[in-house]
Amino acid sequence: MLQAMTTQPAAAHYLDHIRERQVRAEAALTTEGFETLVLDAGSPFTHFADDQDAPFRTNPQFASWVPLEGPHHKLVIRAGHRPRLVVVRPDDYWYEPIELGSPYWLEPFEVQVVPDAERAWAAAHGHGRTAYVGDAPAQAKAHGLHDDGLNPQRLAARLDWDRSYKTAYEVACLEEATRVSARAHHEAKRAFLEGASELEIHHVYLKAAGCVEHALPYESIIALDEKGAFLHYVNKRTKRGGRVLLIDVGAKHAGYGCDITRTWTAPACDTLFRDLVQAMDRIQLDLCNAVKPGVPYLQLHLDAHRRIGSLLHSAGVLDCGGDEALALGLTRPFFPHGLGHFLGIQVHDVAGRQATPSGGTAPPPTDHPYLRTTRTIEERMLFTIEPGLYFIDMLLKPMRSSPLARHVRWDLVDRLMPCGGIRIEDNLLVTAHGHRNLTRPHLP
Ligand code: GLY
Ligand code: MN
Ligand code: MN
Repeated sequence: MLQAMTTQPAAAHYLDHIRERQVRAEAALTTEGFETLVLDAGSPFTHFADDQDAPFRTNPQFASWVPLEGPHHKLVIRAGHRPRLVVVRPDDYWYEPIELGSPYWLEPFEVQVVPDAERAWAAAHGHGRTAYVGDAPAQAKAHGLHDDGLNPQRLAARLDWDRSYKTAYEVACLEEATRVSARAHHEAKRAFLEGASELEIHHVYLKAAGCVEHALPYESIIALDEKGAFLHYVNKRTKRGGRVLLIDVGAKHAGYGCDITRTWTAPACDTLFRDLVQAMDRIQLDLCNAVKPGVPYLQLHLDAHRRIGSLLHSAGVLDCGGDEALALGLTRPFFPHGLGHFLGIQVHDVAGRQATPSGGTAPPPTDHPYLRTTRTIEERMLFTIEPGLYFIDMLLKPMRSSPLARHVRWDLVDRLMPCGGIRIEDNLLVTAHGHRNLTRPHLP
């Protein structure tokens, strides 16, 4: 059912989304002994010794209810009542105030518009024991909230946990973001093959996505050649004529961002590296195909290491197969990040390592500290699958002088080093018996 519905525009699913949020929030409030929940959109961050603010990011707990942009708004949630949305709309001529209009997402709320932050606090009063979740607990306290209601950990953990199960609305938002991002990825690839620089490819992407830079879900990673070996490379060089492009960029719709990576090669690329890219694409798809409820995400991560070990073996870089390579720790310098992470309002979405609905952490194995997802896969989870294979001097250097060095053909590593790295990243929704790849239909 979810599968059929998610191809429709997001708006059609919004009321169901809010109904589910309300039911889950009421349950969390009751369990934790609260009557009212106040979610704060948040305050702008002003740079030190400056009068300029950083681009504003809404409190994700607020954003998971309503795609209203800008600071200081409040959402007041109470059992048995319509949620109350306090919208701050200042009279201003320095900055253009939001024009609220009547978007589909206002319908479920009792709306109150106030002219400033102070009046938003006054309007956000709760009934009974009230919890506040936001970035201004001191102000919340000054406006009458009790200490035990300021960002209560267990309540916030329950809200996070609930966000691991995406509604049809959220999936539809991710799909809309994906359509936009895929279109821009196609244009970026074309520019790369025409010899464009990292900066030019970035501009081509933004133009095709039709957005400004800070509307991206995360800073674009556009790396030519050896720069692909920096996992989060965000510099934008003007050097043209790259042979490899690693591009990791998403797009947002109503606050939900996709997270997509592709690695492309130009005709002049080393054929050994090009074969590795093709093989990594097959590995990525095999890993995607293993996604279904009941599988521990960690199992997929370790399987990725085995498969990457086997690939390096068949390419002649390692002298042993995948199981042995994993056991010896040979693959870790080549694949030094986690296989993926939850995705939603936040690009590294919440609760990937959460142990129980009320909190606690299920850490990854010590050898795999960067794995962000240790949950067992369940229907309606939405996450990335993004295996990588890199030639990172900093990580390979210690191995060169260790007893493990004899397992590695260093001449091949040196040959591949100028190619940087490979990452292929799709976004997957878990269904009752398997998954749906949200990315591949738009970006094969
Ligand atoms: N774009 C950051 C990541 O893939 O996790
Ligand atoms: Mn990712
Ligand atoms: Mn990414």
